[in-house]
Amino acid sequence: MTEDEKFAWLSGRMAIPVGDTKKPDGALGSAAFYPGIPRLGIPAQQQSDASLGVANTTDVRPGDNATALPSSLLLGATFDPATARETGEMVGREAVAKGFNVQLGGGANIVREPRGGRNFEYVSEDPLLTGIIAGHSVAGIQSQGVVSTVKHFALNAQETGRVLANSVLGLGALHESDLLAFRIAIETGAPGAVMPGYNLVNGDWASESEYLLNTVLKGEWGYPGWVMSDWGATHSTVKAALAGLDVQSGANLDPEPFFADPLRAAVVAGQVPQARVDDMVARQLRSLFAVGVIDTADTPDGAIDYMAHRLIAQRAAERGIVLLKNEGDILPAPRRMRRVLVIGRRADVGMLAGGGSSAVSPVGSLSVEGSAVMGVPMAKVYHPSSPLHAIKAESGAAQVDFVDGTDAGKAVEAAAEADMVFLFAEEWRTEGEDRPGLNLPDDQDALIAAVASANPRTVVIVQSGGAVAMPWLDEVPAVLAAFYAGSGGGEAIAGILFGRVNPSGHLPISFPRDVGQLPIPEQRDPATTTSNPGMPVEGEVFDIDYNIEGSDVGYRWYAREGLVPLFQFGHGLSYTAFDHRDLTADHRDDAVVATVTVRNTGDRAGATVVQLYVSRSGAGGFVPRLGGFARIDLKPGEHRDVTLRIDPRLLARFDATARLWVREAGAYTLRVADGALADGLNSSIVLPAASFTD
Ligand code: BGC
Repeated sequence: MTEDEKFAWLSGRMAIPVGDTKKPDGALGSAAFYPGIPRLGIPAQQQSDASLGVANTTDVRPGDNATALPSSLLLGATFDPATARETGEMVGREAVAKGFNVQLGGGANIVREPRGGRNFEYVSEDPLLTGIIAGHSVAGIQSQGVVSTVKHFALNAQETGRVLANSVLGLGALHESDLLAFRIAIETGAPGAVMPGYNLVNGDWASESEYLLNTVLKGEWGYPGWVMSDWGATHSTVKAALAGLDVQSGANLDPEPFFADPLRAAVVAGQVPQARVDDMVARQLRSLFAVGVIDTADTPDGAIDYMAHRLIAQRAAERGIVLLKNEGDILPAPRRMRRVLVIGRRADVGMLAGGGSSAVSPVGSLSVEGSAVMGVPMAKVYHPSSPLHAIKAESGAAQVDFVDGTDAGKAVEAAAEADMVFLFAEEWRTEGEDRPGLNLPDDQDALIAAVASANPRTVVIVQSGGAVAMPWLDEVPAVLAAFYAGSGGGEAIAGILFGRVNPSGHLPISFPRDVGQLPIPEQRDPATTTSNPGMPVEGEVFDIDYNIEGSDVGYRWYAREGLVPLFQFGHGLSYTAFDHRDLTADHRDDAVVATVTVRNTGDRAGATVVQLYVSRSGAGGFVPRLGGFARIDLKPGEHRDVTLRIDPRLLARFDATARLWVREAGAYTLRVADGALADGLNSSIVLPAASFTD
């Protein structure tokens, strides 16, 4: 490659027209484009967002639609690597058919901030679950010959002041939590690229953190792929290049084209070695070859089986939607009722989606005004899967009425007349801003309470981008957490409500009672000087002290502090019942392997998630951690022995000085339970001391 060819791959602008920036020649229109080198048989890089489907931000490719997967939280709730893989393959197939060869997927941040605007793009609050699920969706995408990223490396937990937030966390805790999630995702999925976040980590921007990029990622982990900045998240030339950043993405959003002429000048001045520039390019080529992009470059055929893909999205939602409460077994609802009422802002239209760069618009989506992210207007999208229509089809009810709930009086009146009410609550989250709190917006809490008092057979379906408070919980008999359920979400929800589908999702995040239970009850919101909350151009860097919780994120925080959340990580009900027996543990070939027998004791077929938690008191101790999990389908009366191998890192602490995982000698507790904080079946194992590198 000539120097010009190399440099054309080191700094790229958005391939979406923004302000004076035009779409580059040859670009399909998407997050980024880097020109091909036909002389060498190297195709252009056409990079598109993201994990939930192939995005078409601002309709830059007019009329180009795609299948929308359920949000990553809902994928996390399946606890199912196979579903992650299958949905990843679907995204990969659509990307290839549309001509994209790099997909900016693989959200692998752990959910530390329950109000976080992008929580729906992440899998869970747990490093093991996040790493496994994100890793399998990356593997699925890449199996189609499309590179996937993992992002946003690392500790990028909130949107408030996102480019000024300095995430502060001790290194031991960092490795045991957020870095462990990325490490497992990378081991599982071998993503071709890694995208650092907008934030700073312990004082350095993630995109120029010597520790994150050179020491850990490329050094200790031996990561062979490339590191592309987030869009507008590069802050320097020499520091970033020497710290391990390989590509400046979205350069038109940065104050300078750091990795274009300034990098050439730095090479000439001897500040950045030529070998570093060659490495930046070689890493990209390595991943493009490794994933098969170069081999498959000539074969896109444009054909997409949208019906089949919608069904994949629906099945994923059916496996992930969580039945939180079901008092008196009010669900599954009886079929052929006389009169059913559906309430919800757009419950006649479709499923709410999260906003920002990851938003996907299937054919027939409804877009209403949302927010602006980086100056680009981001619509609030409803995927065309109407729960009202699906309930009509699934229920066989003689009459299904609908009110949108904006007039509470009218909703209450209609509720009093109905045999049963299905109330769809919604909470929109978007990239660029966090939720101000945990309560549902627009007086929906009051609406739910009023409707429930008019009709005690009111079921609430919460569509949200994360945890929400439920001040009305005692007043309603049943609640479903549907997160954002994607292209087939309406049918999935109706299937669960009327019993075609036995619910099997388990919460991938804890739901706090209120913000008072959080490590940081009040988020600090630094004053910014632009009207765009996602991208302040001026302002002071400010610290977020994650040492308060350390590596004890989510359920581990509640366990450590003795707090009882509203719903705990791992919670999820079924229409059948399962029991666990005979938990044994063995120490073989340096790994701890646990076996438990699980049985379906009810009278319906269903899937359960065997959750194994590990903990230890005393030296080198820790509060419960998810040590292993398996999702299995069982017929009534059927039982199975399930074997789980515990990742050795989950029985150890990370010593950041020695650069080693250290396991103390002594007793470790194992527990199989239906939730991180629930009682269950206990066992223990005595282990010798051990230490090993990351
Ligand atoms: C987001 C990334 C995304 C990129 C390109 C940024 O705003 O943080 O996740 O991939 O835009 O659209």
